[in-house]
Amino acid sequence: MNIKSAVFVTSAVQPSQYPAPELPEIAFAGRSNVGKSSLINTVLGRKKLVKTSSTPGRTQTINFFLVNDSIYFTDLPGYGYARVPAAVQRGWGPMVETYLKTRQGLRAVVVILDIRRLPNAADRELLAWLAHHEIPNIVVLTKADKLKKGKQALQRSLIAESLSVAPSLLTLFSAPTGMGKRALWTAVGRIL
Ligand code: GTP
Ligand code: MG
Repeated sequence: MNIKSAVFVTSAVQPSQYPAPELPEIAFAGRSNVGKSSLINTVLGRKKLVKTSSTPGRTQTINFFLVNDSIYFTDLPGYGYARVPAAVQRGWGPMVETYLKTRQGLRAVVVILDIRRLPNAADRELLAWLAHHEIPNIVVLTKADKLKKGKQALQRSLIAESLSVAPSLLTLFSAPTGMGKRALWTAVGRIL
């Protein structure tokens, strides 16, 4: 995909703040600090479009980006970070659930997992919830640069086994090297 333009549109915590018009939309979800914002920057070829941080819980609102004037990318706040204030954590579920349930243009959710870890309960719940609501998912294993090739393949099979999917369905990704960028665009293109 040739990215001619990628701009931040708005942050939202409720539907009245979501941008119009409705366009095809891809959301990015995963645990706190897994690398969602970095992945979006890499996929769009923009180093600093989305704010990233080594401190978990950086993204706390739903952030909309308009790509080539024709697709929205939405960066969702991460789940499962204990040090986010309790009130914010309580708000997260309804905020994201409302978004996922009501956003008409939403075509797929890119679910981002850390290649070094097995999916946890929250990851599984998200995938089950998406399946239940018939929202397509694209599962990406990020931070692949942290492992050697052999270990990458091993982790991919273990994660695939724990999710009961074929390993080939899991896209290996790395924000610093750009690994997986093309494969992810292919998966997105197929859905759009
Ligand atoms: P929250 O918004 O807090 O939920 O985090 P996030 O999922 O958006 O993560 P973010 O992109 O801010 O990245 C978190 C940390 O992981 C940062 O220090 C990034 O530099 C690092 N990181 C993200 N992706 C990769 C990757 O592919 N490889 C490596 N080595 N580090 C990464
Ligand atoms: Mg983030």
